[in-house]
Amino acid sequence: MRPHTLRARLVTGLLILLALACVTIGVATSLALERFMVDRVDQQLSMTVGRFAASLEHNLEYGEYGDSRGQSLGTLGVRIMNGQVTNAAVVAPNSTRLNLSADDAAVLAAVPMDGRGHTVELSALDDYRVMAIKGADGDVLINGLPLEGVNALVHRLQFAEIVVFAILMIATGIAGTIWIRLSLRSLERVAATAQRVSTLPLASGEVALPDRVPDEDPRTEVGQVGAAFNRMLGHVGESLALRHASEQRMRTFAADASHELRTPLATVRAHVELARRDPGDVSEGVRHALKRIDAESSRMSKLVDDLLLLARLDAGRPLARDQVDLTRMVIDATGDARVSAPDHHWRLELPEEPVTMIGDADRLHQVVVNLLSNAGAHTPPDTTVTVSVRVPGPRKAELAVTDDGPGVPEKLQKELFERFVRADKARSRASGGSGLGLAIVKAVVSSHGGTMDMESRPGHTVFRVLLPSI
Ligand SMILES: Nc1ncnc2c1ncn2[C@@H]1O[C@H](COP(=O)(O)OP(=O)(O)OP(=O)(O)O)[C@@H](O)[C@H]1O
Ligand SMILES: [Mg+2]
Repeated sequence: MRPHTLRARLVTGLLILLALACVTIGVATSLALERFMVDRVDQQLSMTVGRFAASLEHNLEYGEYGDSRGQSLGTLGVRIMNGQVTNAAVVAPNSTRLNLSADDAAVLAAVPMDGRGHTVELSALDDYRVMAIKGADGDVLINGLPLEGVNALVHRLQFAEIVVFAILMIATGIAGTIWIRLSLRSLERVAATAQRVSTLPLASGEVALPDRVPDEDPRTEVGQVGAAFNRMLGHVGESLALRHASEQRMRTFAADASHELRTPLATVRAHVELARRDPGDVSEGVRHALKRIDAESSRMSKLVDDLLLLARLDAGRPLARDQVDLTRMVIDATGDARVSAPDHHWRLELPEEPVTMIGDADRLHQVVVNLLSNAGAHTPPDTTVTVSVRVPGPRKAELAVTDDGPGVPEKLQKELFERFVRADKARSRASGGSGLGLAIVKAVVSSHGGTMDMESRPGHTVFRVLLPSI
């Protein structure tokens, strides 16, 4: 039940303090008033003390219940002889007779004879202020006045205070809530801005940070928070801009470098091909060397092409917008895969209707080819590879490549779509894999507004691509 917001806590604290103050004031004023009134009763008692009680001493003259003439209503008189109450009377409109219980008699008998006022509680009467003096014939005479009036006055004061304090608490609660809300409004603005920043994708690319928090008086705490927050936003903005610029430079460099490498590579390949076609009179060793140069330069060309493609995808170059028949593309690519991996079993699962979409035909083709070549290259012979196209919902197309090979190693799965990630580095390099294939697949798919996922365990590996279709 503890309040959570700062606002609620401040208001609660304010109200608790106010309540404490009210209680203190209430207690102090009623105590003071009671004291004052009781003092007045005591004064009255000491002026009249003994008069009514003394009349009780003279049974013959005034009767057993004393002389009530000139006494105010409620005046109590008691005569105590040897610790026993002999006469007790109270001034009332009709009779002054008073029947005291044994307890009351004991209470009265215990009143010290010091000429000072004492408050007693009698069951026959209400609260009384009594004063005891020594009588003429060795007895004790107690005179008393009712405290009824004093109590009533104190109660009225307390009631009035409760009403006033309640109104005060309600008014303070409302005014305090409004006031605290106003004071904390700028803090809420800071929170709202921070909230907006926290939802921004800061991981990469150019980020537009939200507006700064409006300036407040920097002498206030809220103003200081706002200013610090603005400075932090400034720093973050600057570093993001720096990072973006450096990313941009890296991309340009990668694109330029791979582009520049293509021409000399093409020349090397052309010359090697020429030399291999017409080797002339050279030894077997040279022939072998030429073969190796040919194979490795082809691999390098592919690598350079992949790098260039990735650099272009990174740079967000606009894609071609072709009408692509996904079904047709999958049939062709599977046909090619059958030729290049004849030891695998290739199965096709296609919908009745052709699935078409708008996209970059060459790049989408590369997606299919990369997935199929992985299913061919990273699984043993006799593996069954199923290539399926489905329409999982309106304007959606799903391409899935499933194989029952050994699967992707567990520790590789998380970063499989990163660049240059491949299972067995040494072996893959020899077999030609560079680890760029899936990175390209992912980049092409996301540049088409699609998503990709993968699931792999021994005997069941599936790469699924979800693309928007028409
Ligand atoms: N169907 C699959 N079965 C088992 N492992 C796979 C499969 N597909 C991919 N892998 C693993 O994922 C790694 C990364 O694949 P990726 O296509 O990115 O690179 P690559 O095939 O090694 O090289 P590249 O495609 O650039 O020639 C592969 O090296 C392989 O270890
Ligand atoms: Mg591959």
